[in-house]
Amino acid sequence: MSDDVVELILNDHRRFEELMRGLRDKTSDRAKLRDDLSQLLVAHGEAEEREVYPQLAKKASEDDEVEHGEEEHAEINKALLEFLEVEDLDSDDYDEKLEELAEVLNHHVNEEEQTLLNDAREELPQSERDKLGAAFLVARDTLLKTNCGRVENVRLVVEKTKDRID
Ligand SMILES: [Fe+2]
Ligand SMILES: [Fe+2]
Repeated sequence: MSDDVVELILNDHRRFEELMRGLRDKTSDRAKLRDDLSQLLVAHGEAEEREVYPQLAKKASEDDEVEHGEEEHAEINKALLEFLEVEDLDSDDYDEKLEELAEVLNHHVNEEEQTLLNDAREELPQSERDKLGAAFLVARDTLLKTNCGRVENVRLVVEKTKDRID
């Protein structure tokens, strides 16, 4: 499997789309998919912030692109928390909160691929991309093992980053 940070991030973005599609489906196991999405979203965003964004800000990207990305992560986590707090997985509220999450998530994925990932493609040599990818994977997988997507933890993450979106 590739260690290329661009490929690894794109793989997760594809997985987000797949999970969101499953979550729209009334016949799927929505509780399971919602938990899977929450785990991956939190691990992916935190691993980007720890291992990828700071390096990009140093070598390839503008600081304000990175800061903007972090602000959008905070918006995603807030929408994720509201979605996780929905109790009836067959309700209008569920559809509404899912749609709100889709909106901020799609926006961010689109923008990240257009800015930060293109900076990495254009500015970083393959060796650097592989190094970042390996560090991203370790951080992401370590977070996944801590059950980082459980609602209590998402609540903490939202609390910790709320100043980014005031
Ligand atoms: Fe991402
Ligand atoms: Fe991101």
